[in-house]
Amino acid sequence: MKKFLKWTAIVAGCLVVIGFLAFLYFIPPLTMIPQTAFTQPLAQALEAPLKSIKDPAEKILAERGKMIVGRSACSDCHTPQGSQGPNYNEFLAGGGMKDEFKLYGSVISRNLTPDKETGIGARTDAEIIRVLRSGVSHDGRVMTPVYMPWFDFSNLTDEDKYAVVVYLRHVKPVRHKIPEYSSHSDFEILSETAGDYAEHQRAH
Ligand code: HEC
Repeated sequence: MKKFLKWTAIVAGCLVVIGFLAFLYFIPPLTMIPQTAFTQPLAQALEAPLKSIKDPAEKILAERGKMIVGRSACSDCHTPQGSQGPNYNEFLAGGGMKDEFKLYGSVISRNLTPDKETGIGARTDAEIIRVLRSGVSHDGRVMTPVYMPWFDFSNLTDEDKYAVVVYLRHVKPVRHKIPEYSSHSDFEILSETAGDYAEHQRAH
């Protein structure tokens, strides 16, 4: 009887080990999409807006804007996700970053292409620069820096902020409506702190 129990335990133990190994074997791999499967490389999407610029002075500013946009992860949040990574055919058309809560409402990255109705085509240069400097939206609301990291961009020089605007004006316009901001989350508290900072910035 003792022998029987011993063998039963050994067999059960082996089955557990085999089962665990099989479990490990069949876990699907983490789905990392290779960059080659993207619609196009980011560098290509970043470069495209410069092609149509004829005026050399404007081109130099836009080049500078491209460099800043490329290194500030604007596209990571502002380019919509496709089925194969970021959809660079709709470069900077918004919606790449969203937080939607049943209770708190939603914050969604906005369309930065020059489309007049759904993008920033109708915003003035000063309005866009103000977003980058103080996080103040065109309607006076202070954007939560948790979502739109304007604290970082605030440190850009005025010329650099203007260069970003010049670059954005040449991005391919894409009609892509983003729902209005509607959050009432605890992050608002952070917005209030940000508001103090923005107030300070506005004085300058
Ligand atoms: C971490 C994500 C993230 C990054 C990085 C980011 N943004 Fe944003 N941005 C957002 C979100 C989210 C909003 C909308 C916030 C809101 O409505 O409160 C926004 C809003 C904006 C707006 C306001 C658009 C409008 O309709 O008036 C501008 C302009 C903007 N971003 C420009 C930029 C630029 C330029 C960069 C890079 C230098 C950048 N953003 C980087 C997330 C991001």
